[in-house]
Amino acid sequence: MDVERGSYVADDAGAEHEALLPSPDKPEASSTKSPTFCFQTKFTLAHLSSAFLAGIIGCAIAQYAFCGPSCFGVSRPSSSSNSAVDALLADPNAGSTEIHAFPPPSPTNLDPSLFPTNVGYAGGTPTGAEPALIATAPEYPIHTGAAQLVKPSSLGGAKKDKHKGKDKGGEWDLFKHWGNLSPWYSNERGAFGLDSDPETPDTCTITGLHFLHRHGARYPTAWASFGGPADFATRLHKAAENWTATGDLAFMNQWTYKLGEEVLTPFGRQQLFDLGISMRLKYGFLLKNFTETNTIPVFRTESQDRMLHSALNFAIGFFGYPFQDQYQQSITIEADGFNNTLAPYDTCYNARYRPISNRGDWYVKKWAETYLVDTRKRLQASLQGYELSIEDTYTMQMMCAYETVAIGYSKFCELFTQEEWEGFDYALDLAFWYNSAFGSPVARIQGAGWVQELLARLEHKPIEPHQHRFSTNSTLDDNPITFPLNQSLYVDATHEVVVLNIITALNLTTLAANGPLPYDHIPKNQSFKVSRLAPFATNIQFQLLECSTLPSPQIRIIINDAPVPLTGIRGCPEQKDGMCAVETFVEAQQELLDKTSWEWDCDGDYEDMVGQGPEWETVTGDAPRPGRRN
Ligand SMILES: *[C@@H]1O[C@H](CO)[C@@H](O)[C@H](O)[C@H]1NC(C)=O
Ligand SMILES: *[C@@H]1O[C@H](CO)[C@@H](O)[C@H](O)[C@H]1NC(C)=O
Ligand SMILES: *[C@@H]1O[C@H](CO)[C@@H](O)[C@H](O)[C@H]1NC(C)=O
Ligand SMILES: *[C@@H]1O[C@H](CO)[C@@H](O)[C@H](O)[C@H]1NC(C)=O
Ligand SMILES: *[C@@H]1O[C@H](CO)[C@@H](O)[C@H](O)[C@H]1NC(C)=O
Ligand SMILES: *[C@@H]1O[C@H](CO)[C@@H](O)[C@H](O)[C@H]1NC(C)=O
Ligand SMILES: *[C@@H]1O[C@H](CO)[C@@H](O)[C@H](O)[C@H]1NC(C)=O
Repeated sequence: MDVERGSYVADDAGAEHEALLPSPDKPEASSTKSPTFCFQTKFTLAHLSSAFLAGIIGCAIAQYAFCGPSCFGVSRPSSSSNSAVDALLADPNAGSTEIHAFPPPSPTNLDPSLFPTNVGYAGGTPTGAEPALIATAPEYPIHTGAAQLVKPSSLGGAKKDKHKGKDKGGEWDLFKHWGNLSPWYSNERGAFGLDSDPETPDTCTITGLHFLHRHGARYPTAWASFGGPADFATRLHKAAENWTATGDLAFMNQWTYKLGEEVLTPFGRQQLFDLGISMRLKYGFLLKNFTETNTIPVFRTESQDRMLHSALNFAIGFFGYPFQDQYQQSITIEADGFNNTLAPYDTCYNARYRPISNRGDWYVKKWAETYLVDTRKRLQASLQGYELSIEDTYTMQMMCAYETVAIGYSKFCELFTQEEWEGFDYALDLAFWYNSAFGSPVARIQGAGWVQELLARLEHKPIEPHQHRFSTNSTLDDNPITFPLNQSLYVDATHEVVVLNIITALNLTTLAANGPLPYDHIPKNQSFKVSRLAPFATNIQFQLLECSTLPSPQIRIIINDAPVPLTGIRGCPEQKDGMCAVETFVEAQQELLDKTSWEWDCDGDYEDMVGQGPEWETVTGDAPRPGRRN
């Protein structure tokens, strides 16, 4: 074995090796070795046996016994990030009717000794200057999304000319109507009400960047209470002998469910790799600061497979391969009971175990029963012997999004009209507004820990010992090596639910302008759109600036390339580029943190005060105050 430093058999070799290879995902590999997993049998529609059905029931019972009623009563929607409870339940290929576990566990031609990783003779390796596109380019580059993915040639069953059916001049784009399942793209100028873009404003220079991003496209999560693709596939296949599809649905007769669970898809890897490259082009100059101080950056992600691999793919894009010695990757633990600002639900009881954390499900169901009534009837006409439910219909829309980002295209996409896709997008707005953002009683509290860390970084002051009162981990945060406070560049990776928690905790209330969101129609002028705020690989640039025309250092917040007004934050002025004095920003954030109580918000018993549906509402992501209904 080659053990030379710099080759990928060095210390962190395993992780890096995995990030580079096409498909080394652990769950899939392990599934071949654990025949007791449920749903694992490869079967076709014609080969369903009663033994398989018994297996499903057995599994359901085993799962129930394993984690108790909380798994069923308090499940997260498939769209939200999974928790450790879900991970325990996770069957690597739940519901999949076609599985291909690559790589084989012991390939016969494996012989690393014949494939040394470092043979020398690299040729010249001089480097040039760091790029600084954010400051120097005449125009900011627009990210349009998903070059490798295929859009349907027509929508809504209407057979159109292949080319005419495509979006006209990018006006309406199906990929932008999948809520949190959309691939990230640059929001249009003015998306959040500011006529500005991420380029450095005139008279200013950028002195630092705090970058927060989500993982890339993934398979469905392990657990879904409504609209889970694997559950739908299981229902269909259970009843396979009884149904036949015709017309637009005829493809379903041969269709198999090919999706795994939880891990990044190939396209998801690409998203993070591309993001890393684009950030290096824009902000590479910030690395000069590290060279000057003889340090290397610390980036943070957490332990979950897709989170770790997202971060490593970002690093390959940003630093290039090999990235050893160029930065240090902090991998915090995402698991029940671990303090983690990137996975705050792990210690917040109300967020993890109580139905209030999923109050969006009620709204989604209500809305689906509105916008999908005619759709269900239309599709039912092409399906004999299986009664489609509203949930099935909604799940077929989900299937379109998930199949596209996993295998490149989906026949399900063609089945729905533009209007139905807008309905779907809105269903996800409802889910996340009420589960993770301004309409959730546990949103602000879950974002608070990361905001506290942001303030420590902005002020270059460690969090005081008695101030570890949210989701921060003092072991990591009190150590200047694991949690540096003087970097010019920070990169943190997390989940969409946490990104939305943080947006809420920061009081970016202009994004909540027309809340609470109704369940019976799509509001006209919606400022809260999940597809804009929290798609796959969503990213937020917190720019630090110094401007010759302003007396003090400034901060501004740019979500997927559109600056957000900070006017919801006390003291922040109306400013055309969305800038606010760092000092003012910090003071307001500190005030918000001081008013937020982990004991009450996470552990308080206010389930009854919140109830179900619009009888109780928040538009700031706060829990109800003790003793009051509102
Ligand atoms: C198929 O339909 C028959 C008759 O309605 C029913 O008894 C049977 O349980 C169905 N099979 C499945 C797998 O749903
Ligand atoms: C803090 O993080 C460290 C390193 O991941 C971990 O070992 C420790 O258990 C965490 N502490 C808490 C209270 O979660
Ligand atoms: C973990 O979080 C709890 C709740 O905020 C806090 O009391 C505790 O000190 C934290 N532990 C560590 C090691 O940070
Ligand atoms: C940042 O802090 C680290 C650890 O305290 C120190 O080694 C380094 O020199 C500091 N860098 C700057 C730019 O102050
Ligand atoms: C490096 O960046 C930090 C944070 O932006 C700043 O405080 C420090 O002055 C910079 N150091 C140098 C040497 O430029
Ligand atoms: C839409 O909402 C934004 C932000 O609340 C507001 O500035 C704008 O005037 C509204 N537009 C219309 C047409 O109502
Ligand atoms: C946070 O937002 C709410 C609602 O818009 C506002 O009333 C409050 O003043 C804001 N607080 C701070 C400190 O910015």
